[in-house]
Amino acid sequence: MNYQVIIPAAGSGKRMGAGYNKLLMNLAGRPIILHTLDVFEKDPNCSRIILVIHSNDESFFTEIGSRYTKIHLVFGGSERQYSVYNGLTAAKEEGIILVHDGARPFIRPETIARLVAAAEENGAAIAAVPVKDTIKKVKNFEVVETVDRSSLWQVQTPQAFHFSLLKNAHERAQKEKYLGTDEASLVEKTRHSVKVVEADYDNIKLTTPEDLYFAEAILKKRQQEN
Ligand code: CTP
Ligand code: MG
Repeated sequence: MNYQVIIPAAGSGKRMGAGYNKLLMNLAGRPIILHTLDVFEKDPNCSRIILVIHSNDESFFTEIGSRYTKIHLVFGGSERQYSVYNGLTAAKEEGIILVHDGARPFIRPETIARLVAAAEENGAAIAAVPVKDTIKKVKNFEVVETVDRSSLWQVQTPQAFHFSLLKNAHERAQKEKYLGTDEASLVEKTRHSVKVVEADYDNIKLTTPEDLYFAEAILKKRQQEN
């Protein structure tokens, strides 16, 4: 089943603290974003990569874009949600559309295929893993309660949708000035059900400097597998 993917890459990487977009930092000698792009460029079911960028990084991404066959470049906005919304304008208005963070280079093609199939059947599907840690609700550094972990999942990307469902959810959020932390939260507002596809704990988002150490280790493990 074919799909298109929007890859938001227009952030500034504040928490990584490099002083520039973290996606341009090297991981095993290549910019992080290239590791992410390669997964979709190589996937025969991916028909289009809509890469959402910041104007600061335009020359870097224009050069990258010319080396990949599926990339369409779009400028992002001040919030991730606005970046994804801009990405929607460059998509073909049909079929299944994925949204995947540029900062998650370890997504596996098998997970993508399961998400696409689940979205095809249900309209909306997200990658997630069960929460491993004990979670407590805390107020002023004092425990309020221990939360029952059995129904808690940590949500990742990709998130996959029928194009019209995602577009409607975004337009509604825009109208109501609602800012969600992921695409699914916008779709949930429309009361459409969202399926969860169990993904891998190593589908991490590179967010803070120590994530780069984890990333090197994950890459090494993947190379041994292949
Ligand atoms: N992103 C985007 N447009 C924004 C903000 C974020 O396209 N206005 C992208 C980032 O480039 C990243 C993804 O959304 O690939 C997830 O965001 P995050 O990990 O928070 O990255 P940054 O926003 O760059 O990092 P930070 O929040 O630490 O500044
Ligand atoms: Mg951010």
